[in-house]
Amino acid sequence: MIKLSPSILAADFAELGRSCEAVMAAGADMLHVDVMDGAFVPNISLGVPVLAALAKRVPAFYDVHLMIRRPLQYIKPFCAAGANLLTFHIEAESPVEQTIQAIHDEGCRAALCIKPATPPEAVFPYLDALEMVLVMSVEPGFGGQKFMPSALDKLRWLKAEKDRRGLKFLLEVDGGVDAATAPQCVAAGADVLVAGSAIFGAADPAAAVRAMAAL
Ligand code: DX5
Ligand code: ZN
Repeated sequence: MIKLSPSILAADFAELGRSCEAVMAAGADMLHVDVMDGAFVPNISLGVPVLAALAKRVPAFYDVHLMIRRPLQYIKPFCAAGANLLTFHIEAESPVEQTIQAIHDEGCRAALCIKPATPPEAVFPYLDALEMVLVMSVEPGFGGQKFMPSALDKLRWLKAEKDRRGLKFLLEVDGGVDAATAPQCVAAGADVLVAGSAIFGAADPAAAVRAMAAL
């Protein structure tokens, strides 16, 4: 069963609670929360207080994507704020094994993310410990970019390794996912689709969720 994780980055932040309730009611499986620190990526989005307020108001599975330089320092506050799954970048500065352990210690699921220039093999040593791997199909930092087809090969490669080792982690893809690219991602092995502009950028986000689910 393919899961859909709408990225709130593309939502109207002044209407965040209402927009998130609408996509959840329309059948979204989780909410993707993009955290940017202006250092790991050249943009600043939102942080712990916004997640805490949202999680309090909208019951959902919170898929939190940390695009920050030092994820290890912020595991506790994000988990306490309501994150159910915390994704951090292998290119960040925190020690990978220790950060995965810190996430699990908080009772949260852990995922590692790779940027477009990072080969999928980089995450192979950690696959046993992860609940998910996130493959970026755009350079992290901004919504509304064009899908990079090179992500499809990475998904295939990770899916092959997952099956070869009999592992259960999920494969998520993020960036430029829409009605045209979603089926390609699924065919390549993706289990979780993140979509920002394609959902919150649509005139009717709830209808966009239903349309994506129908694919
Ligand atoms: C990009 C973020 C994505 C972004 C996706 O840095 O990680 O989650 O919101 O937005 P779209 O779907 O518009 O590419
Ligand atoms: Zn993201």
